[in-house]
Amino acid sequence: MKIIKTKDYEMMSKKAAFIVASQIGLKKDSILGLATGGTPVGMYQELIRFYQEGMIDFENVTTFNLDEYYGLSGDDEQSYRYYMEENFFKDINLKPENIHIPDGMADDVSAECDRYNQLLEAEGGIDLQVLGIGRNGHIGFNEPDTEFKVGTHFVKLDDETIEANARFFDNPEDVPQTAISMGIKNIMQAKKVVLLANGLEKADAIKKTIEGSISPQVPASVLQLHPDVTFVLDEQAASKLDS
Ligand code: GLP
Repeated sequence: MKIIKTKDYEMMSKKAAFIVASQIGLKKDSILGLATGGTPVGMYQELIRFYQEGMIDFENVTTFNLDEYYGLSGDDEQSYRYYMEENFFKDINLKPENIHIPDGMADDVSAECDRYNQLLEAEGGIDLQVLGIGRNGHIGFNEPDTEFKVGTHFVKLDDETIEANARFFDNPEDVPQTAISMGIKNIMQAKKVVLLANGLEKADAIKKTIEGSISPQVPASVLQLHPDVTFVLDEQAASKLDS
């Protein structure tokens, strides 16, 4: 496990962008696992800048997003597909056919989860998975009590997650209660993982993840078992760590 501590959000974003850019530099047809939320926005902006300056090229890159709200279509402004278009995809040269996000409108959820798992496997698995973390230690939408051995699955969101994500919605009652998420199994199968966190509100989750015992109660703690994981933290998120 590697821990990179940075001064602030901007430096966290730059360091994370360097890690993603190096991955693409070393393997131009990389398979990236991508995350949403407020945390990676700055990293996406840096990556767009690298692309515009000709430092990286997404032509042969494939992406798999971690999760999608269930019941939101891709053109709903609150959907994760919309977020990805707005914050990243519209400004780079990823091929649309190489972009994968669970379908939040799928009638048959279990068939959609199977499709996503099979696609991931057919593409050979993720080279580098980018993660954020929830205040309750969730990764993707793998909430406390999650089973470590499941792949992409249907989840009921925790009240704490619904409350945390309400800030992105005009009306808190509009926050979806369910989602489709890659499972811990998919995440652990990624060759490399980089987890980003900033702000004091993440400090407890980071401490439990890195220094606590490995437990389904803190889903991110399973990363202690991953052979190649890097935490990129700002000062505040790292502030409760012993060292
Ligand atoms: C959401 C996402 C996660 C994300 C987390 C933290 O619920 N499903 O992938 O890491 O919340 O979000 P934020 O970065 O906005 O704190």
